Amino acid sequence: MTVGTTPSVERGRDANVPPLLQIRDATKRYGGVMAVQGISFDIYPGEILGLIGPNGAGKTTLINLITGTAKPTHGTITFEGRSIVGRRPYVLGRGGIARTFQIVRPFANLTVRENVAVGAMYGAGGARRSTAEAFRKADEVIDFVHLGAQRGASADSLPVAWRKRLEVAKALAMEPKLLLLDEVMAGLRGTEIDQAMELIRAISARGITIVIIEHVMKVIVGVCERVVVLDYGKKIAEGTPGEVTSNPAVIEAYLGKKYAQEHRAGAPPTAAAAIEEEIRAAETEGAGKDEPGRQF
Ligand SMILES: Nc1ncnc2c1ncn2[C@@H]1O[C@H](COP(=O)(O)OP(=O)(O)O)[C@@H](O)[C@H]1O
Ligand SMILES: [Mg+2]
Repeated sequence: MTVGTTPSVERGRDANVPPLLQIRDATKRYGGVMAVQGISFDIYPGEILGLIGPNGAGKTTLINLITGTAKPTHGTITFEGRSIVGRRPYVLGRGGIARTFQIVRPFANLTVRENVAVGAMYGAGGARRSTAEAFRKADEVIDFVHLGAQRGASADSLPVAWRKRLEVAKALAMEPKLLLLDEVMAGLRGTEIDQAMELIRAISARGITIVIIEHVMKVIVGVCERVVVLDYGKKIAEGTPGEVTSNPAVIEAYLGKKYAQEHRAGAPPTAAAAIEEEIRAAETEGAGKDEPGRQF
């Protein structure tokens, strides 16, 4: 079941503003696996769009298609009205599309500052930037993401949560128009999650359009205006966070048919909490499944 974009979501959006990114029938096949299958939706300038779905749903693959890391088997993707299918990631980086990787990949022997400076040289403003300017940009971004105290530390010495923040800094230094965040909050707890949500709102306030893949439902509900839900490579729902987390098809995708049937008759379950609980269990079971090779 696909729930169309609802009037409550459309309200407040200027009908004259064209989408920043348009995905039509995007499909990616790996051998016999349809990682992404016939997905279509739009991303509008300035919005924070959530992309959720159980492990293996195709979220990272979709990000790979948008950023040129993988080429769709079928379908079209346009950015600012122009097709980007077949473009290399560095070309798209210069054009204003930046992403973080689910498996963080800093240059381990470089410092935090050097890592972010590489991002500054690689992105939209990179071609016209001297090394000194790249370091200035890096310093500004490092302060913005609150990594100042770690500026001179080598990237591989950072705890995972800070490496994720470094990933965000590297991507931000590229001065993107569209930023795709692939599970940057995994491993964060309590106040760290609140701080990360603040950071996302601050990035959005800079006018950057954000796509966020996140299992922590508090984050999706707290920062996203609209959510697209994937399951087995297909889009199964689209709507506000409230709409998708109370959608039986979404609950079923996460929790299985039995759970959905049990709850359909009575009061709706607190879906957000239930989804999170289920994901935590799945993550524990599937630990180590996400080897870096799967990213590409
Ligand atoms: N490079 C690849 N080669 C083969 N199969 C892949 C590759 N990348 C992803 N897949 C498969 O595609 C499906 C979707 O994976 P992925 O996009 O990583 O899901 P998610 O990010 O939602 O957890 C999975 O079945 C995964 O094993
Ligand atoms: Mg993924």
